[in-house]
Amino acid sequence: MEYIVIKGQKALSGRVNISGAKNAAVAILPAAIASEGICIIDNLPQIEDVTNMIAAMESMGATCKFIDAQTLEVDARGMTGFALDEKFAKNMRASYYFMGALLGRYKKAEIPLPGGCDLGSRPIDYHLKGFRALGAECEQEHGIVKIYAEKLTGANIYLDCPSVGATINIMMAAVFAEGTTLIENAAKEPHVVDAASFLNKIGAKIYGAGTATLRIRGVPALGGGDYTVLPDPIEAGTYMLAAAVTDGDVTVNNIIPKHMESLTSKLKEMGCTVTEGDDWIHVRGCENLRACDIKTAFYPGFPTDLQPQMAALLCKAYGTSTITENVFEQRFRYVSEMKRLGANIKVEGRMAVTKGSCIYTGAVVTATDLRAAAALVIAGLCAKGETKLRGVGHLDRGYERFEEKLRALGADIKRIKI
Ligand code: EPZ
Repeated sequence: MEYIVIKGQKALSGRVNISGAKNAAVAILPAAIASEGICIIDNLPQIEDVTNMIAAMESMGATCKFIDAQTLEVDARGMTGFALDEKFAKNMRASYYFMGALLGRYKKAEIPLPGGCDLGSRPIDYHLKGFRALGAECEQEHGIVKIYAEKLTGANIYLDCPSVGATINIMMAAVFAEGTTLIENAAKEPHVVDAASFLNKIGAKIYGAGTATLRIRGVPALGGGDYTVLPDPIEAGTYMLAAAVTDGDVTVNNIIPKHMESLTSKLKEMGCTVTEGDDWIHVRGCENLRACDIKTAFYPGFPTDLQPQMAALLCKAYGTSTITENVFEQRFRYVSEMKRLGANIKVEGRMAVTKGSCIYTGAVVTATDLRAAAALVIAGLCAKGETKLRGVGHLDRGYERFEEKLRALGADIKRIKI
């Protein structure tokens, strides 16, 4: 059993380097098994989801070798299987990407329904709709999705909502479809662009990544190549919010400021001082944070993955703030734990309302998912007294050396193993 102990009320200061993006890495790694060459993938974050993804790839015959701590060589020429063991899927949503990669390369895949953070129903119907449009048969038996195709043929696919997972998954299969595929109402997130850029680097012909219309011209096979994963906008935003909540003074390095625009503008609206350079953003908190309203949306809107962490800041602001969650139906499960720390926050359907300027006081809290865990750490950093966080396994899935990076910024935070 492990938990994290935080002694709060220390303003963070200094510089923090951002690691590679989790949600890009967990798409690019499975995409690499569609390659018939050798892929060198750099700037991988040292997180459990990456470790788990690599183990899943090796279980199907890929050879993976770390060249250094962040750089992995993937040789998928010796792939022996197209069926994934359930143990790799049960707690990682991104396991669904093996569907598109294996269907594309081998025209078959047998993948368990994905696990991951419990944020609501999280179906994969859009993914399967896309595979069927390309000519595949999809059925589900005993919790395994079985997908087969004689051949894949380009199609016009409209997504009911700009689903990140469905966009990337369908794109991966369409790379090998004969003819051209259009994906309309596609997701535009930075990690969708990163996955498309990686595939193009190894021979795919994908156009329009980052816009609502993706055009993919099928190719017979993919070769090898090297690629560097983009910096993680959600990790960066988490540290920006930790700086603001502790009234700190922090520079977040090795990022793409454009990816942070929705958060940067909100921090300025609340009274923080935010300046930026080519690959860094500096955040200085402020005593009297102003309330504001947040509505999560698909990129470039405010990211749902920063919603819990933003709530930790809004609960400190003077006045009433509202948080409207438009992406997932259950992304307020952290609220009951935030209340244990003294937050004055109430959930009404898809909206949470905070009557701000709360003084957080340390308590024992339990993380319900990855970003909820980050939000509770952030609140604990500014709480009076000691906060004990259980469920730290969630953090390890998506944040590289979280406590270490926070300690380097002056936080009194440590992990206790019992
Ligand atoms: C990805 O999840 C991310 N995960 C999530 O990050 C992120 O919150 C989400 O995109 C939105 O940005 C990974 O990339 C591994 P969606 P995903 O498909 O692909 C509905 C984190 O903390 N939907 O964009 O599952 C779905 O229920 C995680 O890093 C369908 O109805 O998200 C949701 O309401 C959490 N049918 C909405 O669309 C489908 O077939 C958006 O989901 C697919 C999705």
